[in-house]
Amino acid sequence: MAVVYIEDVARYAGQEVTIRGWLRHRRESGKLHFLIIRDGTGDLQAVVSRGSVGEEQFSVSARLTQESSVMVTGRLRQDSRAPGGYELEVSRIEPIQIAEPFPIQPKEHGVGFLMEHRHLWLRSSRQHAILRIRHEIIRACRNFFDQRGFVLIDAPIFTPNACEGTTTLFRTQYFDETAYLTQSGQLYSEAAAAAFGKVYCFGPTFRAEKSKTRRHLMEFWMVEPEVAFAELPDMMDLAEEFLVYIVERVLSARRAELATLERDVGKLERVKRPFPRITYEEAVSFLRRKGNPIQHGDDFGGDEETLLSNEFDRPVIVHRYPTALKAFYMQNDPVKPELALCMDVLAPEGYGEIIGGGQRIHEYDKLLARIREHKLPEDAFRWYLDLRRFGSVPHAGFGMGIERVVAWICGLDHVRETIPFPRLLYKLYP
Ligand code: 4AD
Ligand code: MG
Repeated sequence: MAVVYIEDVARYAGQEVTIRGWLRHRRESGKLHFLIIRDGTGDLQAVVSRGSVGEEQFSVSARLTQESSVMVTGRLRQDSRAPGGYELEVSRIEPIQIAEPFPIQPKEHGVGFLMEHRHLWLRSSRQHAILRIRHEIIRACRNFFDQRGFVLIDAPIFTPNACEGTTTLFRTQYFDETAYLTQSGQLYSEAAAAAFGKVYCFGPTFRAEKSKTRRHLMEFWMVEPEVAFAELPDMMDLAEEFLVYIVERVLSARRAELATLERDVGKLERVKRPFPRITYEEAVSFLRRKGNPIQHGDDFGGDEETLLSNEFDRPVIVHRYPTALKAFYMQNDPVKPELALCMDVLAPEGYGEIIGGGQRIHEYDKLLARIREHKLPEDAFRWYLDLRRFGSVPHAGFGMGIERVVAWICGLDHVRETIPFPRLLYKLYP
């Protein structure tokens, strides 16, 4: 007899099969038990009838508690009323382990409680839907770059360099030296771009962000393309194409999960090229017209990003921020040297920044001066400066935070549900 996954049951209609999974829920109605079994690939209703299984098996079914692991065997019957369109007429039940009372009940729990039980919370249909969409987004990222001839070059996690400022570094001991957990693979991707032309890295990155917001994690995953001979407008085009591709992939492959989350897919369907492109200065003027107290030269915080990203029905590209607000490596605009050739892409519906990037300084002297201005340790950056000594070319890239994109596409109000085991401010468990 076939042991099958629930996602494949349509191929076995009318046949006897065995399903291995966990009991999500049981409902009793006289001489019938309705079991909802989940196996990770889907949910299936299994009907246990006292008349057909006999007294002994019926009492086994009665003992199954929520989340007990079990093998059930029976005939698969097509039934349009059953969730998923099929139902299992049970002939045999074999419990594997009878679960202790499960802490998460089908009722409202506080977020603190659910986060403490994240290892069990993953089994809920909502978390299941979110994490399958996350997987789809990651698959789309890889496909997008792979199909366009980008080479995947992994960046290290231990590094001597601060890429995105010294205030959010996680410091650690590396034998006799101090090392940091990487904030971004960018500096290494720049080296790789000079070797392979167009590359991307994709891995976990770390920021000791001492602020509690719905957008910040201490550990998050970033995908970062870097392209030799590319300039800022090329990155705007690439980012636009990339985001449209990701949204399309999720819409075509994960409709059921979006429905589980009650996501308004109409809003995602509007994510088409071209995206609006505005300068930092235009963004500031817009914010001031909306009554926001921002001054020219100020950075955007959560409120400003929310206001901006609510204004458009698709992602908006904000470019040319003041150099003073941005990382040391940013190339400046030859026309207005006080502005950086950089961009942020803000997701709509108030989600805010999902991509940051731009053009890099490719001149040795200018980069060295910037490293000194930012008081970064020259020694640790010697290798990075070398890239400007041996065939330096203009180049550009960007980084996209996976969790921010998952939050936006799933329509979540906080990034904590976008990653299997979130690292939040002062929270390391589970
Ligand atoms: O804008 P950021 O800091 O840019 C960089 O790290 C560049 N070195 C990337 C590059 O050009 N290769 O971060 C890029 C993106 C942000 O737009 C955001 O999506 C995400 O990373 N991000 C975070 N996501 C979750 N939690 C945090 N604490 C994040 N910080 C940045
Ligand atoms: Mg940024």
